[in-house]
Amino acid sequence: MAYATFRSIGAYVPKKILTNEDLATMVDTSDDWITKRTGIKERHIAAKEEFTSDMGVKAAELALLRSGLAKEEIDMVVCATISPDYFCMPSTATVISAKLGLKNVTAFDISAACTGFIYALSIAKAFIESGMKKNVLIIGAEKLSAITDYSDRGTCILFGDGAGSAVISATDNKAEAIIDVHTGADGEYADLLMTPNGGSGSAHDALEQESSSCFMQMKGNETFKVAVRTLTKDVVEILEENGIQSDAIKHFIPHQANYRIIKAVGDALKMKEEQVVLTVAKYGNTSGASIPMAINDIYESGRLQKGELMLLDAFGGGLTWGSALIPFSPK
Ligand code: COA
Repeated sequence: MAYATFRSIGAYVPKKILTNEDLATMVDTSDDWITKRTGIKERHIAAKEEFTSDMGVKAAELALLRSGLAKEEIDMVVCATISPDYFCMPSTATVISAKLGLKNVTAFDISAACTGFIYALSIAKAFIESGMKKNVLIIGAEKLSAITDYSDRGTCILFGDGAGSAVISATDNKAEAIIDVHTGADGEYADLLMTPNGGSGSAHDALEQESSSCFMQMKGNETFKVAVRTLTKDVVEILEENGIQSDAIKHFIPHQANYRIIKAVGDALKMKEEQVVLTVAKYGNTSGASIPMAINDIYESGRLQKGELMLLDAFGGGLTWGSALIPFSPK
């Protein structure tokens, strides 16, 4: 049987920085309020002419380079995004494939909001274990600034732009294998976090819609409570099911939505401070890109070493959630 291994990581962050002080000049908020309620200090914002696919390409180029694979060896591209270049088609994964010069690939996007990277991971793992694919490039890329309402202080303080990417490859060495990936969803909570307009379910006539129709709307306080409850249950389950104690986790890498959510789940797992990876202060919430951006951060700082066990968890619109247990296995 083929196993799936997490072979390399890459990320890209756009240059422009939007600080809490900048936001305080745009809406009625303050650095103090945002820092206390979310842990976020700043986020990066893509240039107008910089598309989600452009950021995805930069992250993927790094992941490809670090994988040691030739681009001809990539046989599938999966992009997790809720801010695709185009509304319906082509998919951002196909745009990225073309920009990278990848031929003969299966390429598609998935929509699982902030859990997108974990969903992409589960898809790559399944395709590889079934023998259908050998080297899958997965990408989480978001230009959330394009779907953020900068007059809504309840949401605009949270989100940022960026991209992360990983190469998942086949191996026959079980010690290198991704141990487990959990994914879940409950559409009953759809209204907590959504872009209500702009799709075929929209109440408006497409021609009458304003440009603001695709902005995100969120019931922040309820989302917070469901996030803590659902994530805690899921990470406890994935550890129990695999007979792994939390002290065996070298890096707990949660979706970077809010420091208080991360802290609540980390405390429930009795994680020590040095186990928890935090990038929320400098990037904010970059949805599907946040986990690979965080993995890349500890990789580039030399904190992530071969064989070390990572626990990922994420939660997002849908609602969706997921977790993964992965030994880092670079070539
Ligand atoms: N600056 C100042 N005040 C703000 C504010 C801001 N940016 N946003 C909201 N407020 C105000 C509200 O209007 C409210 O005022 P009121 O008491 O006079 O009515 C007060 O702060 C409390 O609002 P509430 O929404 O209960 O705050 P909160 O503690 O829940 O914090 C969030 C708001 C959005 C930071 C928090 O709910 C959150 O992070 N939720 C999770 C969001 C998330 O992670 N979503 C993505 C999931 S992937």
